Amino acid sequence: MHSSVTPSTATSSTSAAPPPPGGQHADVLVIGGGIIGLVTAWRAAGRGLRTAVVDPAPGGGAAHIAAGMLAAVTELHYGEQTLLGLNLASARRYPDFTAELEEASGRRIGYRRCGTLAVALDADDRALLRELHALQLRSGLDSEWLTGRECRRLEPMLAPGVRGGLRVDGDHQVDPRRLAGALLIACERAGVVFHRASAERLTVARGRASGAELADGTRLSAGQVVLAAGSRSGQLAGVPDAVLPPVRPVKGQVLRLRMPAPPAGGAAFLSRTVRAVVRGGPLYLVPRENGELVLGATSEELGWDTTVTAGGVYELLRDAHELLPGITELPLAETCAGLRPTSPDNAPLLGPTALPGLQLATGHFRNGVLLTPVTGDVMAEALTTGELPAAARPFSPTRFSAVPAPVPQRARVLEESV
Ligand code: GLY
Repeated sequence: MHSSVTPSTATSSTSAAPPPPGGQHADVLVIGGGIIGLVTAWRAAGRGLRTAVVDPAPGGGAAHIAAGMLAAVTELHYGEQTLLGLNLASARRYPDFTAELEEASGRRIGYRRCGTLAVALDADDRALLRELHALQLRSGLDSEWLTGRECRRLEPMLAPGVRGGLRVDGDHQVDPRRLAGALLIACERAGVVFHRASAERLTVARGRASGAELADGTRLSAGQVVLAAGSRSGQLAGVPDAVLPPVRPVKGQVLRLRMPAPPAGGAAFLSRTVRAVVRGGPLYLVPRENGELVLGATSEELGWDTTVTAGGVYELLRDAHELLPGITELPLAETCAGLRPTSPDNAPLLGPTALPGLQLATGHFRNGVLLTPVTGDVMAEALTTGELPAAARPFSPTRFSAVPAPVPQRARVLEESV
């Protein structure tokens, strides 16, 4: 199904095959219009590149399901310290990114500096949380240990059995649906062209990616192609095996409830994100200013299945009830399930591949919403210079392939960190 890859020393868009006569040509063609594809397109257009996006329903994808935690500190895992650097870089960008995107789109994206409380319900949970706290402190992160009583003082709806917790005031939230909507508008205003169809195959001409063929037969040509199709990034026909991203779907079921309006002068049902590990399963509750309470998430290796199951909903509500007994009184507004695009090391694949003209922006797993700002900046840099900024180099797709990435024609040393 896939052709072979010939590594080349050229990645600049100027070395692309000439566009077919009468065809539609872009400097950058982004395959996938989720938040990662959209932020890449927006930032590329901001660098003066003629940019197009292929997606039957841009603005959808995993962000439509995601809770939107910006949880670089509370979602830290052993072995992910390199990823932590990228996560923190993106979290730091969020205030300016929000201001710029809201200005560009005229839409609010629900960025809320509410902080996060990670709590333990029993002795095992507490031991786990103590381990996480030690790792956070060793990593130089701000995180404060609280007793159960101190946790309940911050969030009075928590169960009396809460045994302790971590207060992390730097882990915030954004509303991913609003984020996607704003990115879509910002792209349109920046002149990004949308092809509302499925990409059927990557086209390769003279040893480099040259565009895409759409399901309706349209052929698009481009100087560079960015594959940002989330979990489906590893499925596109025409992508040579050697550069096909090793991305797989990990299912997450999520519920949306409605919180009551706080009484005049009284406390909100929940004022910050609350996380816990209950019976080994991670659980989180993300309260929005508009009264929405997002409850997630399952983590299931079930291939492409996106069924909302009775068992998934039951487990989420059962565990949430132990944590926050009042939750069963709330209206259940929505149940949904999505797929996290997951790579073998849980980190994204960013930038040039060994196939000249083809770049990746995929595999963001649990951190797609958090990594949106930094991904846009990194990809814009890679698309204009052919090279990843220094701090993003550990996330080069070539870490999963034996074939090295091509050396850019105009190699540039970037001292700045992302
Ligand atoms: N980052 C939350 C999740 O993936 O469920």
